[in-house]
Amino acid sequence: MNFHVMTLFPDMIMDGMNTSIIGRAVKNGHLTLEALNIRDYSKSKHNQVDDYPYGGGAGMVMQPEPIYDCYEALCERIGKRPRVIYLTPQGSVFHQGMAEDFAKEEDLVFLCGHYEGIDERVLEEIVTDYVSIGDYVLTGGELPAMVMIDAISRLVPGVLNNEVSAEFESFHDNLLEYPQYTRPVVYHEKRVPDVLLSGHHAKIEEWRREQSLKRTLERRPDLLENANLTKKDQKILAILKEK
Ligand code: ADE
Repeated sequence: MNFHVMTLFPDMIMDGMNTSIIGRAVKNGHLTLEALNIRDYSKSKHNQVDDYPYGGGAGMVMQPEPIYDCYEALCERIGKRPRVIYLTPQGSVFHQGMAEDFAKEEDLVFLCGHYEGIDERVLEEIVTDYVSIGDYVLTGGELPAMVMIDAISRLVPGVLNNEVSAEFESFHDNLLEYPQYTRPVVYHEKRVPDVLLSGHHAKIEEWRREQSLKRTLERRPDLLENANLTKKDQKILAILKEK
């Protein structure tokens, strides 16, 4: 997977992503990440990239040409025209299913806006996906781009140490993850559930599934609408709802 981020703050992206698991995946060659500085494509004397909005109003608007030229230069260099994700509170709200869809791409471009936004005409030309990371307003698209890159990267084969872990974590089957425990067996007078110490794998699986269902019902009942539920799951849920 190759991530290309168009931004006015390239250091924010490179500094923010070069540690931890993503940094290691880049070093190991499972991912590439580059930040393209939109300002490098300004043709004005003072490298200007924004201007006052037509019609008046507060703030500045990012001009179309440097963004268009930045994208076209990238396409020419890599010989393809990848999807362009524009980070905006006006987009569809990001979720795991979208991460899975984006993870199928070989290249992805993220367009980060600042100020009051970007001239609509270049958005119409190059943007394929409008994505929000939640119903709140941030100062720019860089943090949302990093959030998305993190969520997508961990689905790319080889990025996580443990190949199966991405599949079985929270949101597998659209259910929340069951609670986890490690040593010591007794902590502040609370004991690890006996079943987890039993070594009985089928019983442990059954307990974990029930905990996932219980937790989803309590904390995120909205997820159950699209959950992958067996007949047995439905029975367990019916009992949990009665309690
Ligand atoms: N830019 C500003 N706020 C944002 C949000 N919530 N999601 C995506 N991009 C944004």
